[in-house]
Amino acid sequence: MKKIIIANYKMNPLSASQAIKLAEAEDWPEVFMAPPPVFLLEVKKVLKRAGLAAQDVSALSDSVGPATGELSAAMLKKLGVRLVLIGHSERRALGETNEEISKKIKAVSAAGLKAVLCVGEPLNIRQKGLSAVKKFLAGQLKPVLSGKTETKNLYIAYEPIWAIGTGKACGAAAAAEIAAYLSSLAGAPVLYGGSVSAENAREFLSRPELSGLLVGGLSLKPKEFKKIILDARV
Ligand code: PGA
Repeated sequence: MKKIIIANYKMNPLSASQAIKLAEAEDWPEVFMAPPPVFLLEVKKVLKRAGLAAQDVSALSDSVGPATGELSAAMLKKLGVRLVLIGHSERRALGETNEEISKKIKAVSAAGLKAVLCVGEPLNIRQKGLSAVKKFLAGQLKPVLSGKTETKNLYIAYEPIWAIGTGKACGAAAAAEIAAYLSSLAGAPVLYGGSVSAENAREFLSRPELSGLLVGGLSLKPKEFKKIILDARV
């Protein structure tokens, strides 16, 4: 299976011209590019090989309607989006609940888009060992995967909270062990995210348990990001 690399630009960059510059520099077939929604259209215009992704979506199943500030899965699809990040820890930290996450997965799946469900444990759980981590992650998956969730268009992204933006990535062996566990529970391919760097990407990508990477900070640095793409092709 071809490994995928998702570039999560988060709340960056500030201008459309900067977003276009990044998109042009990172337009490879392995890539799904997730700019802020305000730049989706501009980025879409310049992409020739990469897929377009969104960082979030409305939990409402309606395509249109009286819902101020919401962006429906159907709207994202119309814009050319093919994949949607759901339940990123930075969104959970802002109050997103498992119930909303579950609705978002259903809305995205009903629109025929791919969903990437992000899960990950805080440091205090990690300090208790990998069994505690697995138990915590199973808790994050269960409410979301209970019922008839379509897993055909689902990816799981394992992103330990303590590894995001800290420069302290999870070891590849531990990430692979967790990925195998999550995959057995969810029946979906698993990506790793959290301080992926030009130096450590190859190690993650060499693990058969991992189907790709979710890259934050480094996706804003095209030269280093390119090294990850070359590693994904080995
Ligand atoms: P990071 O972010 O690569 O900057 O650690 C990853 C993410 O939050 O998706």
